[in-house]
Amino acid sequence: MSRAGIDALRERARLGLPAHVADYVDATADGVAEAEADRWDAVRFRPVALRGETETSLATTVLGTPVDHPILIAPMAQQVAAHPDGEAETARAAAASGTLVGVSTNTAVPFSRIAEQGAPWWFQAYLLADSDLTDALAARAAAAGASAIMLTVELTALRVDPRIEPTNWPDGPGRARLANLTDDERSRLGDRPGRLPGLEQIARLREIAGLPVVVKGVLRGDDARRAVDAGAAGVLVSTHGNRRLAGSIAAVDALAEVADAVAGDAEVYADSGIRDGRHVLAALALGARAVFVGRPAWWALADDGAAGVEGLLAGLADELTASLRQAGVGTPAEARAARIAVAPGFASDRGLA
Ligand SMILES: Cc1cc2nc3c(=O)[nH]c(=O)nc-3n(C[C@H](O)[C@H](O)[C@H](O)COP(=O)(O)O)c2cc1C
Repeated sequence: MSRAGIDALRERARLGLPAHVADYVDATADGVAEAEADRWDAVRFRPVALRGETETSLATTVLGTPVDHPILIAPMAQQVAAHPDGEAETARAAAASGTLVGVSTNTAVPFSRIAEQGAPWWFQAYLLADSDLTDALAARAAAAGASAIMLTVELTALRVDPRIEPTNWPDGPGRARLANLTDDERSRLGDRPGRLPGLEQIARLREIAGLPVVVKGVLRGDDARRAVDAGAAGVLVSTHGNRRLAGSIAAVDALAEVADAVAGDAEVYADSGIRDGRHVLAALALGARAVFVGRPAWWALADDGAAGVEGLLAGLADELTASLRQAGVGTPAEARAARIAVAPGFASDRGLA
């Protein structure tokens, strides 16, 4: 699956969706769709040679969970607008593809239906206006079989456009979100947005869920280090798919800095704009253990349900295998050890003091 193939997938998905739903999925903080993929395109490679034939293998683990390849599915809200079974259908595709799926706080599907598909899954937690409800969701996810909690540590910029905000959708699945809270609990939340978490939330969720915590949405080495020192088992470098702050650095700009800061004490992942196998190779070579794909999976789900998502993941994995061989290495670990990628920019505060 090439970037052009994913562009075609996006167009096909759009044809079957109401405009406000398609626009909600495409939306970015700066109004420019898919710009983050250009930053991954700008990564340059230094292929190695004379290492002979090695067997190519994509299999790895994420926080101890085995996966067939390092391409995971990002937690995304409103998947029932793409397919009637929403996240359950996505989880079915993850199970068939030997990978793991993130499940949003805002899912309209009960955890039990997602869990019964058999794929490993991580629950994505927002710190809700009523933090007891965040705790309740994390505990329910753990009881239903989630194997980690992803704590999102940033808020998106999308509320600036009321037309595409799911709570305003005319008959929307937007109204059925937070299916894992009771009606009474949902009414306690109203439409109030979440809150920005502090470091203490990491230990709190770890204790309540009894699961490792991955911090989602870090773009700086210093924050990554603080998160790991506070007990995070993983750090996901992410701009929320360019939905956070207009003018923000891209995930790829922060990845090497975060990987250096964490220095092997936690797993590092990346998402935002990953659109082909070469982007995956770039992320792995710059220090990620795995990547998450967001919108492409949402579009594939809308286009052809679980089969669509399986096809997308297989296409990306095939391309990653080809890219690894062209780079002269057999595994993601070798790609990282051989430092085969050069990031397009290295944003830090170095030189400012
Ligand atoms: C439609 C949509 C809904 C999303 N919902 C959530 C969410 O509920 N929680 C969250 O942490 N991230 C959410 N994200 C962000 C994704 O988890 C991920 O970081 C992002 O989509 C990756 O970028 P990409 O779409 O360019 O691949 C959402 C993204 C999209 C496109």
